[in-house]
Amino acid sequence: MSPSEPDYVRLNRAHWTKVNAEYTDANAESAWNEQEITWGTWNTPETEVGVLPDVRGKDVVELGCGTAYVAAWLKRRGARRVVGVDITPAQLDTARRLDKKQGLGLELVEANAEATGLPDSAFDLAISEYGASIWCDPYKWIPEAARLLRSGGDLVFLRNSTLAVLCTPNEGKVGDRLLRPQRGLHRLDWTDPSEVDFQVGHGDLVRIMRGAGFELLDLVEIYAPDDAVQHPYYGEYMTPEWARKWPSEEMWRARKR
Ligand SMILES: C[S@@+](CC[C@H](N)C(=O)[O-])C[C@H]1O[C@@H](n2cnc3c(N)ncnc32)[C@H](O)[C@@H]1O
Repeated sequence: MSPSEPDYVRLNRAHWTKVNAEYTDANAESAWNEQEITWGTWNTPETEVGVLPDVRGKDVVELGCGTAYVAAWLKRRGARRVVGVDITPAQLDTARRLDKKQGLGLELVEANAEATGLPDSAFDLAISEYGASIWCDPYKWIPEAARLLRSGGDLVFLRNSTLAVLCTPNEGKVGDRLLRPQRGLHRLDWTDPSEVDFQVGHGDLVRIMRGAGFELLDLVEIYAPDDAVQHPYYGEYMTPEWARKWPSEEMWRARKR
């Protein structure tokens, strides 16, 4: 741990080290091997959401790559170079084992996605699927993504919906009551398990993106389909009943000016 590392990076690394020990390589590999790109709790197909640019021949960075299945999907779709950044060595070890087995040639870097140390203007796409998009401070990671992108490059990310976060109790499932104010919404400290994530409202997020030099291209709110069933992992807090009425997640797409 570097002396300048924020406290939440340490807490979240410990949390993800534990999650990694429970989530086997076989689970990670089955995500790597998915043929269709899908997003979030309800495996909503990219063909429906439509947020990904054509990655053929492009340089991609995944911020908070975890076991790097999104990175693997994009490399298999023809990205030239895919760099995955994560703070948790155990997650990167899983990604490295799978990369070695599948021979994709991903580059996996241990770093805080808020300050990666990677060079300026080196990528055409910065992507985050429940990575930096929720675990990092948006006032830091979005400017960092802008720094890493070339002019005209895309930023694509998946996060929880603000409404879901406002209706989530400290423990237990999301309900139909507003439980926390949106005013001042930013850092969320959860005690069980001990982890920290971040959420800001839409107005703040648009301002952060514009301030970092992005033009907003799309915001897709994701609902559960009629036949959705409880998710084995995210089901601990999000139910299909809730997400048929309100968006559980959001996908954002922006372009660096
Ligand atoms: C839900 S996983 C990401 C899922 C990912 N799309 C995959 O393919 O596995 C969240 C990841 O974010 C990482 N993370 C949390 N805080 C981070 C930070 N400050 N910088 C980089 N990665 C971070 C965690 O270590 C964890 O591996």
